[in-house]
Amino acid sequence: MENGREIVSRDMAEMTSNIGEKIRRLSGSSLLVTGGAGFLGYYLINFLVHANESLAEKCRVVCVDNFIRGVPRWLKEFAGKKKVELVVENVNRLDAAALGDLDYIIHAASIASPTFYRKHPIETMDANVIGLRNLLDYSAAQEEKRRPVKSFLFFSSSEIYGDPPPDHIPTPETFRGLVSCTGPRACYDESKRYGETLCVNFFRAKKTPVKIARPFNNYGPGMRLHDGRVIADFCKNILHGEEIRMFSDGSPTRTFCYVSDAMTGYLLLLLSNHDGESFNVGVEKPEISIKDFADLVARTAEKQLGLPRVKITTQKNPDDKYLVDNPERRCPDIKKARELLGYDPKVGLEEGLRRTLVWYRDNMEETA
Ligand SMILES: NC(=O)c1ccc[n+]([C@@H]2O[C@H](COP(=O)([O-])OP(=O)(O)OC[C@H]3O[C@@H](n4cnc5c(N)ncnc54)[C@H](O)[C@@H]3O)[C@@H](O)[C@H]2O)c1
Repeated sequence: MENGREIVSRDMAEMTSNIGEKIRRLSGSSLLVTGGAGFLGYYLINFLVHANESLAEKCRVVCVDNFIRGVPRWLKEFAGKKKVELVVENVNRLDAAALGDLDYIIHAASIASPTFYRKHPIETMDANVIGLRNLLDYSAAQEEKRRPVKSFLFFSSSEIYGDPPPDHIPTPETFRGLVSCTGPRACYDESKRYGETLCVNFFRAKKTPVKIARPFNNYGPGMRLHDGRVIADFCKNILHGEEIRMFSDGSPTRTFCYVSDAMTGYLLLLLSNHDGESFNVGVEKPEISIKDFADLVARTAEKQLGLPRVKITTQKNPDDKYLVDNPERRCPDIKKARELLGYDPKVGLEEGLRRTLVWYRDNMEETA
């Protein structure tokens, strides 16, 4: 059976084949990745390191993170890698001009887990508003210097849609959202919405080549086991031999997109010319209830990893606001990304869960 490292290597090879010739555009370029020590940062930096093996001229990758969510153990994998630089800094205060001329900016810094963004609501808002503005200002200044950035990717979220009514499921990019501006999740949802407004106005007023990704529940290697997102929680329960604890009645539904597929979508968007536009990135099916999902994780662990079958229970989350404004259904319409980017997610849910569980099994100690 593959180990965690082999799974990541295979994912990198699959992503390279999915992205194809477009990857050559990165040759010799400088990329800034904010939030590079986060879950999506893991696959992004891994991919760029992998791409450097075949690019005519290697790209330079500057990873910025303030470690508000801790220092992941996997970060050591990149120590000493040529062309990968780590800057420990808050994106709100980052002096991007001091990093030299940047060709690509990927702004992924923002706590994504509801458990942790509610513990750090102001920091979460600031990363999506002040941090984003800082990077957009840098890009606008570069445009004036006639050394424009080639592309800018802002990580928004499916949460900008709030809790869509059933006739807006699957949810297309044109749905305007049903969101509380003061509820416990608003620090995240509303700062992402404002972030999108900042992006489109920089595009209109200053020609900033900014694209907006709306991720829908990505999962896979690199997500902290103690992240508090549902999939990490369930895998943690299983790998510790505990019962799976659901913090709802299990009826809300989600679609889950494996990280190599999602990251392919983000890179295709970054390398596209769809400036000023937003794209859903996720999968349309299966739309699965949390209860059925818990069953599937338990069955996959038993069948694919030979782990003992665990029970599934319902418990109250210690945070009594945990379920307030929790969307009932979350399912994207991804026609726009399919048609305009050639995005075509391939990894099925059971296979993605197998890869995730194997990676977690081999990476139980997550903090450096
Ligand atoms: N993973 C998903 O399914 C998903 C879904 C919707 C949106 N997103 C968005 O994608 C982006 C990346 O998500 P992720 O899953 O990797 O999140 P994550 O929480 O795993 O990682 C975020 C990283 O950003 C860093 N960070 C936070 N604030 C910072 C700041 N002010 N300065 C510097 N670094 C800072 C954290 O230390 C962390 O390493 C986020 O913007 C998130 O909101 C992700």
